[in-house]
Amino acid sequence: MTSFDRRRFLAGSLALLVAHPVQAIAQSAPSIHVVKGRGCGCCTAWANILKSEGFQVTEEERHPAELVQLKIARGVPQKLHSCHTAEIDGYIVEGHVPSSDIRRLVAEKPDAVGISVPEMPYGSPGMGPEDKREAYNVVLFRKDGSSEVFSAYEAAS
Ligand code: CU
Ligand code: CU
Repeated sequence: MTSFDRRRFLAGSLALLVAHPVQAIAQSAPSIHVVKGRGCGCCTAWANILKSEGFQVTEEERHPAELVQLKIARGVPQKLHSCHTAEIDGYIVEGHVPSSDIRRLVAEKPDAVGISVPEMPYGSPGMGPEDKREAYNVVLFRKDGSSEVFSAYEAAS
């Protein structure tokens, strides 16, 4: 390697080092839009957790009846309804879903409408302390009405 090549090589490595953190940030800050129930505090608590875990969150409030209409229109089965309804990369995220499941959803891109944590389990993100959580499932649901467990969280002992 001539010293000229060496300098070019070092300059190239430096450029990579500089470019890499920017890319990492872009990958780790997915944009999610959250439609919250008007006056519902747990929706905001969940949105704030996503922000603290690196998501770019946009928020909007709707009257609870309008929110139910949105869930129906977006294909969330009634038994999987919770409070807020969010959208990321064309997927629906319903209720108090942990951020790690959202990241997995957008990484794996399953053939599905979205994922849900039905109702509002105690100790799910935005629903009180995790060390006192009750057991709950994140459920993947599809256009044909079928669903399956996407991930399961055990009760804290
Ligand atoms: Cu809630
Ligand atoms: Cu809520």
